[in-house]
Amino acid sequence: MTCFSSADESAHYGFSVCMLLEHYRSHLRWEDEGVVELGTGDATAIADVVRSLPGLRVRSYDISAPSVEAARANIAARGVADRYTVELGDFFDQADSAGGPPVSTVISNPPYIPAPDRDIRMPELWGGVRGNDLVLQLLKAGYPNVITAVASYSDPETTVRTAGDLGYRVANFLAMGLDFGTYSSEPKVRDHIRRLCADGHGWAADDGYMVAVALFTTDPDVPGDRADQLLKALQL
Ligand SMILES: C[S@@+](CC[C@H](N)C(=O)[O-])C[C@H]1O[C@@H](n2cnc3c(N)ncnc32)[C@H](O)[C@@H]1O
Repeated sequence: MTCFSSADESAHYGFSVCMLLEHYRSHLRWEDEGVVELGTGDATAIADVVRSLPGLRVRSYDISAPSVEAARANIAARGVADRYTVELGDFFDQADSAGGPPVSTVISNPPYIPAPDRDIRMPELWGGVRGNDLVLQLLKAGYPNVITAVASYSDPETTVRTAGDLGYRVANFLAMGLDFGTYSSEPKVRDHIRRLCADGHGWAADDGYMVAVALFTTDPDVPGDRADQLLKALQL
């Protein structure tokens, strides 16, 4: 087992989470409640966010033991261990049973690699056949605010429309083009992505794809809905 490593993707995730937390500070209530995170990875991206937002506390979960080990070292090295904690285990088993007051906001760069089965380079990154199983599970978990990465090749239309059916609006998002990396370039995955896109379940170019980090909210005080803009931004 290895630890997830994709510098551009993690940097985009961290920067976007920071922007969205700052911009929607009063609505997301993170200064009072903290946030929870699905999928810590090596923790570098969010450790830097915790460092730059003094009132932020993050309770994070990862199913990968090497990731948790690396994350704890990186969090300690950045001096934020008192505000960024990591537990080994499935987010969906642990976050609800952790006790303490409820949290309104979850953040995640979730596993979104689509493949016919879990037998891929890093099985912890498998997002199901269309890549969006984990993000759909997260949207169905009942958090009022979900800040999550949405990849253009992982059936984003179903994700965004399901979010709408569940009562979420897209408050805002930050999108970026990424080259196919270590995990999406694996031939089995790449072929599957080509088929998914040809069948109308996503978008990808020959050499890359788009990822947006979006804030889905049910908060009636947050204005607007950028769901259609998000889907346009993911098209290649
Ligand atoms: C795409 S990586 C993102 C890591 C990190 N947040 C970043 O952006 O650099 C997704 C992470 O989610 C973890 N993961 C997968 N399924 C999980 C689950 N059910 N609960 C908690 N973590 C999970 C994987 O082990 C992996 O480290």
